[in-house]
Amino acid sequence: MSKTPIRVAVTGAAGNVGYAALFRIAAGEMFGPDQPVILQLIEIPVEAVQKALKGVAMELEDCAFPLLAGMELSGDPKVGFRDADWCLLVGSKPRGPGMERADLLKDNGRIFIEQGKAIDEVASDDARVCVVGNPCNTNCMIAAAQAKRLPRERFTAMVRLDQNRAHSIIAAKAGAPVAEVKDLYIYGNHSPTMFADFTHATIGGRAAADAVGDRGWLENEFLPAVGGRGGAIVQARGVSSAGSAAAAVIDYVRDLATPGAVHSVAVHSEGRYGFAQDVWAGMPVRSTAGGGYEAVESFTMDAFSKGRLAKTNDELVSERDTVKELIG
Ligand code: NAD
Ligand code: LMR
Repeated sequence: MSKTPIRVAVTGAAGNVGYAALFRIAAGEMFGPDQPVILQLIEIPVEAVQKALKGVAMELEDCAFPLLAGMELSGDPKVGFRDADWCLLVGSKPRGPGMERADLLKDNGRIFIEQGKAIDEVASDDARVCVVGNPCNTNCMIAAAQAKRLPRERFTAMVRLDQNRAHSIIAAKAGAPVAEVKDLYIYGNHSPTMFADFTHATIGGRAAADAVGDRGWLENEFLPAVGGRGGAIVQARGVSSAGSAAAAVIDYVRDLATPGAVHSVAVHSEGRYGFAQDVWAGMPVRSTAGGGYEAVESFTMDAFSKGRLAKTNDELVSERDTVKELIG
């Protein structure tokens, strides 16, 4: 007998990241090859955008995906998130050349008030919320602050693209296949201050620092390369990452839905790794049943790492203070 479909709500479904992710979700890459999904596609209530959303839905129909058990299109979050099991919050403005993600805070922050409230009101009791729209850590904090029914730990934000970038860059430097990189996780903000912790990473079973053989490169070139990669993509394409971002959304949610997977997610910090109690900070988590997770707290940080954690924490605290009035 086939499984009950999972309801997946996606905002910004006609945008670049949404468009690139939807076909992979419908193909079974997020929840597995025997798990039907119903896609709840949400866009702004503007005629031209709703028309484009209809076009996306038509293309999804044309793929005849066996796992696509239904689609619902909406311009109203209270309709679009109804009974959703997973809420993927992609819809928001991307940055352009010369901007930092934090520059989007005032424009995008308000979106997450309305959506946090709607999700809390109408999504399923087990709903999980995954924030992608930038600046994603602080937008996630804003959405979570609206919730009265759903607990805060249900709200997480995406730093998986940074983890994937870090794995790829360090593997290339070591001349090793990317699959040999282990225990390289992202801490803090999805911004240039993030800390891609190479100090606990291994490559082919060796400490990454030994495999690379150049601690100076790790500190002075690797970290800025990972932290600056989003900006480098914006400079090169003129628009921000979309295909790689969609791939990271698939990895992030698939791993959250896979008990035992250990991966980087921005979560309510609760003071772990020295982060301020109430910010959402990237850190390694181990997924548990039903889309849950527990933070992995076992990594001991050296003085260099502590300095990096303090820097990214400072930025998260300053973003939190900037949006104080949106949190209530
Ligand atoms: P885009 O401009 O192509 O698409 C955004 C879409 O969101 C548009 O179709 C817009 O109509 C829609 N939208 C805006 N407000 C909405 C709302 N209130 N409800 C529903 N939909 C809404 O942008 P994109 O390239 O798809 O990027 C989307 C967001 O994802 C940006 O904020 C971008 O910075 C972010 N992003 C984050 C990461 C990450 O690693 N966390 C990676 C890539 C992109
Ligand atoms: C990225 O890291 O590619 C995204 O967050 C988009 C951006 O603005 O950098």
